[in-house]
Amino acid sequence: MARIFSGIQPTGIPTLGNYLGAIRNWVTLQAEHECIFCLVDLHAITQFQDPATLARQTREQAAVLLACGIDPAGHIFFNQSAVSAHARLAWIFNCVARLGWLNRMTQFKDKAGKDREAQSAGLYVYPNLMAADILAYHATQVPVGDDQRQHVELTNDIAQKFNHDYGVDFFPEVAALIPPTAARVMSLRDGTKKMSKSDPSDQSRINLTDDADQIALKIRRAKTDPKPLPADPAGLEGRAEARNLIDIYTALSGETRQGVLDRFGGGGFGPFKEALAAVLVEHLAPIAAETQRLLRDETAIDAVLRDGAGRAGAVAEPIVREAERLVGF
Ligand code: ADP
Ligand code: NA
Repeated sequence: MARIFSGIQPTGIPTLGNYLGAIRNWVTLQAEHECIFCLVDLHAITQFQDPATLARQTREQAAVLLACGIDPAGHIFFNQSAVSAHARLAWIFNCVARLGWLNRMTQFKDKAGKDREAQSAGLYVYPNLMAADILAYHATQVPVGDDQRQHVELTNDIAQKFNHDYGVDFFPEVAALIPPTAARVMSLRDGTKKMSKSDPSDQSRINLTDDADQIALKIRRAKTDPKPLPADPAGLEGRAEARNLIDIYTALSGETRQGVLDRFGGGGFGPFKEALAAVLVEHLAPIAAETQRLLRDETAIDAVLRDGAGRAGAVAEPIVREAERLVGF
C-alpha cells in the first residue's frame, strides 16, 4: 500500500481536464492506497486572487471533489494553508533546489508568457513548494496530469540533493501516476493550449458543474477543422482539435479511438459532437447535482476540511520536524 499525495489549486471550479487527468484517478486509488488530497491554496496565490473569491472557491472546490467521490473519512482531505509544515519544508527546498533547475520548468514559461519580469517570486519557486507538499508526507505516488510530469521529476532531484547534502536516506523516490488516455485535455478553443480553470475564456473548458445546456453549447462551438472525421486513428495526426474531442469521448466511454471512429468516421463533426455532449452530461450531471446539495451546508464542508487538516498535520509534522533537525534547526 503506497502513500498517495496530490493537489489541486482552488482557483475555480475543476474542469474536465482536472477530472480526466487527476480527480478520476484519485477516486479509484482510494480503494487500495492511503491517500492525501489537498486544495493547494498556497499555490493559488502565486497569481493574485481576490481574498473573498479564494475563500469561496476553496469551499466550492471541496464540494466538487466530495461530489466526485473523494472520501474524507477514509483518507485525508484538507487545504494546504491550514498545515504550516508545507511552507516550512518549501523554504528548506528553496535552499536545496538550484536556479538552473527552475529555469527549465516549462509551466513557469507557459504561465509567465512574455512578461516574465512581472511574475511573483512565488510562481517561480512553485515547483519547490510542490516537492514539499509531496515529501512532507513521504508520499511515493503522485497521480497528476501530464503537465505536472516535470515537477514530479524535479521533486526527485530535490529529494536526492537533500539526501546527499545532509548525508541521509530520508526522502523517498516518488513516481508520477499519469493516466493512459486524456492525460492532457486541450482547450476547446485552441488545440495547442491545455484546458485550464484559470484560462480567461469560460468557453475554453467544461466545468464539472456546467449544466446540460452549457455543455451542449460549448461542445457545439468547440473549434474543429473543416475535414470530415477520419476512418481510423492515424487520420487524427496533425488534427489536434479533432483528436482532443475523440480522446475526451474515449476517456469517458471506455471505448477505443477505433471504436468511436467506426461509428463517426467519414461524417462531419455534428453528430459526433451531439453524442459527445450526451456522454459528458451523463457523467457530469450527477457531480453537478451532488455539488449543489453539498453547498447548502457550508459549515459541514468547513468541518470536513478542518478535520482533514488536523490529520494531515499529524502525519507531516514529525517528518518536517525531522527534516528541520537534519538541517540543523
Ligand atoms: P489548472 O491548470 O486547471 O488550474 P491545477 O494546476 O489545479 O489545474 O492542476 C490540478 C490537477 O489537474 C493536476 O494533477 C494537473 O496535472 C491536472 N490537470 C490540469 N489541467 C489538465 C488538463 N488540461 N488535462 C489533464 N490534466 C490536467
Ligand atoms: Na496546472
